[in-house]
Amino acid sequence: MSNLLIENSGTTQKIIINRPDKLNALNRDTIKELSTAITTASKDDNVKAIIITGSGEKAFVAGADISEFNTYSIEEAKDLAKNGQDILFDLIEKTEKPVIAAVNGFALGGGLELAMSCHIRVASTNAKMGLPEVSLGVIPGYGGTQRLAQLAGKGKAFELIFTAGMIKADAALACGLVNHVVEQDQLMDKCLEISQKMSNNSSVAIAAAIRAVNSGYVDGENGFDKEIEEFANSFATGDFKEGTTAFLEKRKANFPNN
Ligand code: COA
Repeated sequence: MSNLLIENSGTTQKIIINRPDKLNALNRDTIKELSTAITTASKDDNVKAIIITGSGEKAFVAGADISEFNTYSIEEAKDLAKNGQDILFDLIEKTEKPVIAAVNGFALGGGLELAMSCHIRVASTNAKMGLPEVSLGVIPGYGGTQRLAQLAGKGKAFELIFTAGMIKADAALACGLVNHVVEQDQLMDKCLEISQKMSNNSSVAIAAAIRAVNSGYVDGENGFDKEIEEFANSFATGDFKEGTTAFLEKRKANFPNN
């Protein structure tokens, strides 16, 4: 994992992209390493939540590594986007443990796409976000056209993509692109506070909620039907029995699967 640092804080795992000299730009190796790290964390029973951030104080991720793809053919570009979406961006979105992006600085292009594939985003006040691809003669390829429209609305997505501009953290908060904005020195504490709150709840139910929410964005699937299915399946879990019993006995739940 030469491009990543992994740190555990209780049941939360921090995955830190560590290419500060290149503003943590995502080259192919970093994408593969991130994919492996997320897969490993998602199978680790001791990890209940994941935080992804960038090393240094300047950048979360300043985009896909432009130096790697500027000579690509159509076929190579297609492979780059498809492979990246499959092994990392879609993988994160479907990870059945909460994934939080701690956006600690520039989140541009593939960097914003990475943050948008996470379930929750917390930005520091110095963060700047944008999809500058059209200024390079290309469009976002790691899901940015879809996820930005989902999070911030179609009009905002069109404006940000067409202008290739950057917005500050408070503007990102106002349009729903990020969940919270805090000072940079409080960013990790805020993310850990959120993951701590989640860790008291049923991890089995959280996984079901991730599947149900995601289903509404999958072509050909009906999110409401998926919700009914996941809701019903919950009734057969030990976590449901414990959660409802604990409530009726006026005590704190001790979820068997946590
Ligand atoms: N791909 C490859 N290298 C990148 C990069 C990217 N997306 N973003 C930054 N870097 C590298 C720079 O080339 C530079 O490397 P060098 O020191 O070897 O020359 C280093 O990171 C520092 O970046 P620099 O541009 O000098 O920092 P800055 O403070 O002047 O500007 C940005 C910061 C974020 C505004 C600027 O780096 C930038 O515009 N990056 C590209 C953003 C982008 O278009 N992303 C979408 C890609 S699809």
